[in-house]
This record gives sequence, structure tokens and C-alpha cells, in this order.
Amino acid sequence: MGLKEVARRIKEVANIVDIIGEHVSLKRSGRNYLGLCPFHADKKPSFTVNEERQIFHCFGCGVGGDVIAFYMKFHNLDFAEAVKELARRFDIPLSSSSDGESSERRRALFEINEKAKRFFEHLLWASEVGKAGREYLKQRGLSEKTARLFGLGYAPDSYDSLVSHLRLSGVDLALAEEAGLLVRRKDGSFYDRFRRRLLFPIKDSSGRVAGFGGRIIGEGEPKYLNTPETPVYHKGSILYGFFHTKAAIREAGFGFVVEGYLDLLSLYEAGVRESVATLGTALTPQHARLLRGLGAEWFLVFDADEAGFKAAMRAAPVFFNAGLFPRVILLPEGHDPDSFVREHGPRAFYALKDSAEEIFDFMIRYLTGRFPQNLEGRLALFQELRPVLEAIKDPVLLELKLGQVAERLRISESALRRGIKVSCEKPVCGKKAPSSERALVEFVIHFPEYLGDLLEAGLLEVIRDSRLRALLEILKASQGVSPADLSLEDLALQSLLSEILLSPPPFEGEPPEKVAAEIKNWLSNRKSQARLESLLEAIKEAEASGREEEALRLLREYQQLRCQL
Ligand code: UTP
Ligand code: MN
Repeated sequence: MGLKEVARRIKEVANIVDIIGEHVSLKRSGRNYLGLCPFHADKKPSFTVNEERQIFHCFGCGVGGDVIAFYMKFHNLDFAEAVKELARRFDIPLSSSSDGESSERRRALFEINEKAKRFFEHLLWASEVGKAGREYLKQRGLSEKTARLFGLGYAPDSYDSLVSHLRLSGVDLALAEEAGLLVRRKDGSFYDRFRRRLLFPIKDSSGRVAGFGGRIIGEGEPKYLNTPETPVYHKGSILYGFFHTKAAIREAGFGFVVEGYLDLLSLYEAGVRESVATLGTALTPQHARLLRGLGAEWFLVFDADEAGFKAAMRAAPVFFNAGLFPRVILLPEGHDPDSFVREHGPRAFYALKDSAEEIFDFMIRYLTGRFPQNLEGRLALFQELRPVLEAIKDPVLLELKLGQVAERLRISESALRRGIKVSCEKPVCGKKAPSSERALVEFVIHFPEYLGDLLEAGLLEVIRDSRLRALLEILKASQGVSPADLSLEDLALQSLLSEILLSPPPFEGEPPEKVAAEIKNWLSNRKSQARLESLLEAIKEAEASGREEEALRLLREYQQLRCQL
């Protein structure tokens, strides 16, 4: 894989706001983030980061570019160095030719993790100490088959069982420390991080062991202990179970996002294989991109409590901005997916999909119950939803959601809009329109060789003026005849034609083939635009009459079309 390709893949997964945010304190401002420029003595924040386009620009000193340009400039690296560094962070393999020292080290870290995983597995299944782990598995209702498939292991109640094992197999303990498996004492010696825990290897999307999560056996603190961030483990870009369940999710066309290791395993055990779990963190844009990659409809499964609601609020904009419109499954009070599926079985769990609400509707409904129904209460509710609305970057989608919220809250849309600070930069189709209908017709009269092409692209549909339209109809009917040779019965049209023939061609100075291409491009964009508008109408209608499935399907089509433009 060439560096350019690696760079492209980095830009697929890295979010410029996160990367720059590590070095520059950024504040959201409308559709951008602002901060003090790190490249010149900035007094007022002139450093702008645009998440949607994944670029930055400083209006003070003029520096700008993409995430790689920022990395080069900030860390004073050349392109190759910056790409390598970022690829390492985002777990993107480099070709052997550009294999540096750091990717060699990453390989070593994966290897140590794999070794540790095998050791923990061995302890779970084949040792006397592992009995506690095996019993715990039984207690949690997990079969050996599932546990083995996911590579579960057991770390005994000892400070040096892994240390000794690694030392005996000649592993560099400092590297094991870097992998997060060992902890270094003040005196320089090492001890095991994971003790008296059932261990869940956490695999990256290609199946390599990036880290571990460990649940304490029985009671104790913390309940779960996880690998800290390492060169190969970034909890913000890994989803537990993903490697094992992605095929099933792709095939089913839907998936569940749950919150716990044991939730995922317990679902899997019960035959519900289409789920992934976050790793005790809020959902990130990288997660959302992984999810989007499976092309499935997503269901977020939450506990019916305040924490579940907050999690939904946080997840919503992340999903929207990735072009995903998940639905929410609220479990009955006191249940998590694990307890639910064990009590009610897989069919009941799948059946929860049927009553799942789109995340926005869910939030509105949830909040509606908590505020008084007077205007004051409805405005307070709106304040709660405001950050979620403001995070929607697509102006048309924002429009649609605003309409929904307004309707649900019985607040006039214009009042809502005044309350929201969004700057809708430009209409969806940003391509510049040719100057006028007349110029378009002039163009095909002067350059009839492009007439057929442009008619096919929909030229006739954009001409509203009746005389120009009539003229164009005639030109269409007499293709192949030079416009100068036409004699028209309608004298008014004839004089219009002559007038055009005698005046200089439009778009002067531009090569006609370029103009023709531009017009064609504009026409096809316009067609898509019209399609977008009619889709939007259809979505509104489907939503109004409660046909949620259809609305969602249309919304996805809408999003796809938007992305293509
Ligand atoms: P929960 O506390 O909801 O636990 O944590 P759980 O998954 O239901 O586990 P059991 O059933 O009590 O064994 C949900 C997830 O949050 C993360 C873990 O990823 C966990 O699966 N978590 C939780 C931590 O990382 N650390 C903790 O101390 C607790
Ligand atoms: Mn649980």
C-alpha cells in the first residue's frame, strides 16, 4: 500500500477535530470549531476547524489543510513521517517498504497480547486456579463454546503469574508493560495488571488482540478493568465483538449497539449474533464510521434510566453526522440486554426492534413527560434538545428535524429557528447556475453541436420562459438543421432567433466544450436536487402518517444521494 493510500485511509477514520483538539483548545461555533492558532501569536481565535470537510484554516496567518497537513506542521514532520505516525495511531497497516521501527513495535505488541491471551485461556480451561473462572462463566450462563470462540481467559488472584510466564518465554517485560499487561513498580520490577478476573480479549476489526477487558469475579472494585490506551489499543476506535459479529450484521441488515461485554456475549449465546458493544466510552465518530461500513440499520439498546437517556442524547449527533439514523430500544426497567435475553429469550429480544423509535422521536417523547405542557415547559424541552439539533450539519436534514420538533412541541417553526444558532451556508446544490435561461438557449443556438447532449441532460425542463421554451421545442424538433437555416412561422419567435444569432455567443471567452460540460453538470446536479426535494416531501409525508419504516428507508436514500453530490 502506497503512502497516498495510507493517507486516504487515515482520513477515513481520523477526525480532524479530535486530532487538533488534542493540541489546541477548540470551542464549537456554529458549524466550525474555533481556537487560538498554534502557528502564530494569535490574540483572538482565528484558527478554524471544519469537521464536515475535515479541514482547518487560520484566518490570521493563512495556514490550512487537512489532518495530515496539521500533523506535519504541528510536529514538524515531513509527509511520510506524519502519515506513518497517524497510521500507527489508527491502526492502519503500512506496506513493507515503509515499515518503520514503530510498526515493528506494534507488531510486537499484538504478539505479546496474543501470547497473553493464550496463557489466560490456558489458565481458564486447564488449570486448578481457573476453576473460579469456569464457575463464574457457568453462573453467567455462558457455554464453553461461546467462551472459546471469543477467547475468554482467566487471570488468577496473583501478582506474578503473567510476569513469570512472560519471563520464562523470554518476552521483553517493558514491552508487556507498554501493551498494558504489566505495571511497573517504583523499584523497576513488574506485576500483573489483571488479577482475579475473567478476561475478554478485545480484537480490532481484523481480529488482532489489541487489549483486554477484565471483569472481577464476584464483588470488588473496579468491576471492569480495561487495557489503558496503548499504541495498539484506542478504545475510541474499537468495538467489542465487531470482528466476530460483522458478517452476521452485514447479512441480517441490522445490528444492535449494546454497552457491555457480557451483554454482547450473552446475546450471542442466546443466538442473537448481530451486536457490537462499546468499551465503557461514549460513541465516537470513528465508531460510527465502523458501524456505517456494515451498511446495516442500527438499534441502540439502552437501559430505561437516566443514564440510558443521556447516552442516547450523546450518541445522536455522532450518528447523524455519520449519515446514520439509529433507532432506540429501551429495555424494561432494571434490565440490561444480558438479563433480558436470559429471562425472555432471543425471539423477545428481536421483537424489541418492532417497537423501536427513531432516536429523535425517542428523545422528544422521553423529555415530553418531564416538562409541563405549557409554553414555558415546551421551550425548556427545546433547550434540552438544542445541542443535538445544532450538531446536525446537513442543512436539509436540520430543516426536516426542526420541522418535526416544532410540530411535536407545538411551537412555531420560525420561533424555533430564531432560537437556534445555525448558519446554513448554502443550498444543497452549491454549483453555480448559468446566468440565465436566455443564455442557455443562446448557447445551444450558437453551438448546436451540444444541443442533443444538453436536451438529454434535461435542458428543456429548466426553461420556464414561454418564448424561450417554444424556441427550444422547435430546435429540438429540427435537430440536424442549422438554427440559421430555420424559418419560423411565428414571427415573434423568428425575430428572437435572429436577434440571438446576431448577438455574440454567451459565456464569451470560455471554450464552448467547457461551458457545455459545466451546463451538463449543473443540469444533472439539478436533477438530483429535485429528486432530493421530492424525497424530502415523501419523508415528511411518510412520517406524518406514521409509516416509520418507509420514512427511514427514504431518509437513507436521501442521505446516499446527498453524499454522492
Ligand atoms: P455495567 O456496569 O452496566 O456492567 O457496565 P455490565 O456490562 O452489565 O456487567 P455485569 O453484568 O454487571 O457483569 C457496562 C460496561 O461499561 C464498562 C464495561 O465495558 C462494561 O461492560 N465498564 C463498566 C468499565 O469499563 N468499567 C467499570 O468499572 C464498569
Ligand atoms: Mn449486566
